[in-house]
Amino acid sequence: MVAGMTRDEMRALSDYFARQKPPRQSFPADPERARLGKLKADETLCTMCHLGGFAGQNESPRVAGQNYGYIVKQLGDYKARRRANDGGTMTSVANTLSDEDIENLAHYLVGL
Ligand code: HEC
Repeated sequence: MVAGMTRDEMRALSDYFARQKPPRQSFPADPERARLGKLKADETLCTMCHLGGFAGQNESPRVAGQNYGYIVKQLGDYKARRRANDGGTMTSVANTLSDEDIENLAHYLVGL
């Protein structure tokens, strides 16, 4: 998709997407699972990179209010090394997470 794009076109697209307001997710997050997800996020120091409230900075993307299924898939893909384009940063993080941790984190992040 991006092979034929110029750097200026990529910057223009980034500007466009950065200006969008993410819609509120309709996923019914479970409060207890979200609480456990927050505990895991605090313990793993996720916000050292993703910033407070998972707002994102530089190469660490915004994850606040992200789609539940997308979060679960990405964390599972890092863990299984199906997604490995980040020099292993998120693979190291995901290796410390159980499948239940990943789902709890997604319950937490979807509501931010
Ligand atoms: C050492 C820094 C660092 C830490 C700690 C970290 N992340 Fe990340 N995270 C990144 C970077 C950098 C990326 C983008 C990687 C890429 O390009 O694939 C990323 C990507 C992600 C993505 C995929 C986002 C997308 O839009 O596809 C999710 C979800 C995520 N992180 C969640 C977490 C969670 C949850 C934690 C804590 C359990 C965490 N991260 C801890 C740096 C970090």
